[in-house]
Amino acid sequence: MPFSWPEECNYEDGTMEEEHRELIGLVQDLEEGLRAGLAQAELLARMDRAYAVLRTHLEAEESALRAAGYPGLGAHRAQHNDMTRALLEFRANVQAGTAQITESVLDYLCQWFQTHMKHEDRAAAEYLRALSAAR
Ligand SMILES: [Fe+2]
Ligand SMILES: [Fe+2]
Repeated sequence: MPFSWPEECNYEDGTMEEEHRELIGLVQDLEEGLRAGLAQAELLARMDRAYAVLRTHLEAEESALRAAGYPGLGAHRAQHNDMTRALLEFRANVQAGTAQITESVLDYLCQWFQTHMKHEDRAAAEYLRALSAAR
């Protein structure tokens, strides 16, 4: 499904938004690979690249929120952890040949990011912005 960047995902925090755009770009690379008929092993390599960027992003986001004393950090981290755990489990299944990277998996991934970026990350970006404006 073609992804169009939602208005609610435009924050004034440049770094967080840039990283989100990069991540969505990597999921789109996966969709392109799928449409081009790449083998699951090649798709898995693209998924691993996206996963590495995702981990770095989540860690940076969490450490910025921790440093800022963000009160919603626990719940926010729980969402990150649930997603990374699900991705790792899915990855293991793809490698074992019991699951496949399909369009509906990628749609689900995109949907998750979109919801998280629109709500949890947006609230976090607003908190960081308010804090830096108050300093
Ligand atoms: Fe987040
Ligand atoms: Fe994020």
